[in-house]
Amino acid sequence: MKNRSLYPSLTISILLTLLLLIPGSFTLACRQEQKAQQPAAEIKLPPPSLTGKLSVEEAIKARRTIRSFQPQPLTVSQVSQLLWASQGITGGRDNLRAVPSAGALDPIEMYLVVGDKGVEGLEAGIYHYLPKPHSVEVVTKGDSRDKVVDGALGQRWIGAAPIVMIVTADYARTTVKYKERGIRYVHIEVGHVGQNLFLQAEAIGLGAGIVGAYSDEQIAKVLGLPSELTPLLIMPVGYKK
Ligand SMILES: Cc1cc2nc3c(=O)[nH]c(=O)nc-3n(C[C@H](O)[C@H](O)[C@H](O)COP(=O)(O)O)c2cc1C
Repeated sequence: MKNRSLYPSLTISILLTLLLLIPGSFTLACRQEQKAQQPAAEIKLPPPSLTGKLSVEEAIKARRTIRSFQPQPLTVSQVSQLLWASQGITGGRDNLRAVPSAGALDPIEMYLVVGDKGVEGLEAGIYHYLPKPHSVEVVTKGDSRDKVVDGALGQRWIGAAPIVMIVTADYARTTVKYKERGIRYVHIEVGHVGQNLFLQAEAIGLGAGIVGAYSDEQIAKVLGLPSELTPLLIMPVGYKK
């Protein structure tokens, strides 16, 4: 008798547990399915040009920090050229990049913020550069330049640039081999990207600014960065005013 009276309460507990677990696993399965169904949209960029009209010397001479831009939109080809100069693959078989990297560990990831009518043929949004296929993947849609301005201590001039390029890095990719000194190496590499962007912008008739005064946390949030990436340099680019 005693044992029999246990069964109804056991059955009720099992039913209650199932009721609690099933909706949870159903939601999880749905989310996973949604993720699987919606891979980040990838946009192939046109190949970069390997010749230019300005000499390196002329580009070095002309380079200045530009803080005033025309509203004129850029072309996808110009965006392609800038991303290639920052992290593009130039080294054939070994996939070496446009800038040197300690141990060829490539800790840098490039992000691109496109404003409304900032680039012909590219919607306003945040994009992540994929060097191997030379394409960008969509991170979020919409114009986030105001949020970048807020994150950069209200430097309003940034918001007038049609595009804002943000250099981020994963320190661990380099410190795993070079320990503490790897931090220095990552910063040196970011400097190379900065100068390449300055010179490439000049060479295609554009100007670039450079911004180090910003909140890492705010900019990481605007870009939706994974926790391993730190934003290390902001460079607004456009036609000079
Ligand atoms: C690491 C770094 C951070 C900088 N941060 C800012 C910034 O937050 N805002 C700004 O207006 N300029 C910034 N600048 C630009 C400098 O003010 C500029 O390079 C300097 O005035 C020299 O001018 P030039 O670049 O035209 O030669 C930064 C430059 C560097 C190298």
